[in-house]
Amino acid sequence: MTQIGFGIVGPGYIAGVIAEALDEASNARLSAVSSRRIENARKFTEGRPGVAAIEGFENLLARPDVDAVYVATPTAAKEEIALAAIAAGKHVLVDKPFRDRASVLRMTEAAATAGLVFMDATHFVHHPRTAAFQAAIPGKIGSPRSLHTAFYFPFSDRANIRFDPKQEPMTALGDMAWYSMRAVVEYLRPEGAVTKAVVVPEHDAETNAIVRASGLIAFEDGRVSTFDVGYTAGTIVMDLQLLGTTGVLQMDDFVLDWESSSVFKASGDKVGYVHRTGMATRKDLSFVPTPPRIAQEAAMIEDFATLVASGDARERAAHAEATAKTQGYLDSLWASMG
Ligand SMILES: NC(=O)c1ccc[n+]([C@@H]2O[C@H](COP(=O)([O-])OP(=O)(O)OC[C@H]3O[C@@H](n4cnc5c(N)ncnc54)[C@H](OP(=O)(O)O)[C@@H]3O)[C@@H](O)[C@H]2O)c1
Repeated sequence: MTQIGFGIVGPGYIAGVIAEALDEASNARLSAVSSRRIENARKFTEGRPGVAAIEGFENLLARPDVDAVYVATPTAAKEEIALAAIAAGKHVLVDKPFRDRASVLRMTEAAATAGLVFMDATHFVHHPRTAAFQAAIPGKIGSPRSLHTAFYFPFSDRANIRFDPKQEPMTALGDMAWYSMRAVVEYLRPEGAVTKAVVVPEHDAETNAIVRASGLIAFEDGRVSTFDVGYTAGTIVMDLQLLGTTGVLQMDDFVLDWESSSVFKASGDKVGYVHRTGMATRKDLSFVPTPPRIAQEAAMIEDFATLVASGDARERAAHAEATAKTQGYLDSLWASMG
């Protein structure tokens, strides 16, 4: 099988996860990794034979063995690197979140004009459960009316980019509510404009970063989503509940599934979703398994490489639209805080 060559910019935490996903994916490989400091790139490529360590993303973009660039830097640096990659003729996989919707549109329009793929790196979108859940909605719950999500993991390292509003402008709202808003796009699928957006944030006293937020977003068609996100609950929480007119679908691991995702690969928990309808008690809940073939982040890489090869303009545009909608909803929440 032909493999597309990836270059990674920003050898930090999530770059390590994607380097492993590139090993697992059948149609892509890691060619090179760039850092602002060559020592960091060298450290990252230790134990990865055949992967070049490069200083400066410009030098990575000049390499013929790099067909696509994964941008894994803090949000403040993403657009400049992605636009330079597109100008150099590279497809781009850019990690979430983004500065704002206008930034997303500049990148997606530049990629479309150049005939290149732009995709954001939201792993769960590529899990087979997402398509199965979407397909189950009309038959199992009728018309979705409201969506509740909660996403927390315990985190308190103030030296990390998550506590630096200069690097991650929306701090925990951007980092965590991104997934809540993407669930709105994938599952609630509202039509029309945002009619109401409310966020109650909690700030870290030392850094002023948002560390927890609860909120609500409502749409012209009457659909509503509530969310609760942050780093302060002392445990991981990934709950999702989609309420329709004839039932409810729910999951308790909607972001990083407990069977295949990077953090939980060996948990032994099976992935799927739960359906309930009527006056059900706990014993009446039905679990629908949706087994993954590979880790969801490796599935993302395979979908990306497939989209590069297929040249399918409609599917490329659908990915770009989902990114712009997700960021647009985050922007509405951000703007509501004044
Ligand atoms: N999709 C997901 O599941 C997922 C998961 C985690 C994080 N993320 C997102 O990915 C981004 C990175 O998160 P992370 O946890 O991997 O951060 P991280 O560990 O701090 O890594 C970021 C890397 O980017 C480079 N960098 C830092 N500042 C830069 C700048 N101004 N210009 C260019 N490069 C810079 C650094 O490498 P050098 O200093 O060596 O250049 C650093 O290692 C965040 O926006 C985060 O929200 C996504």
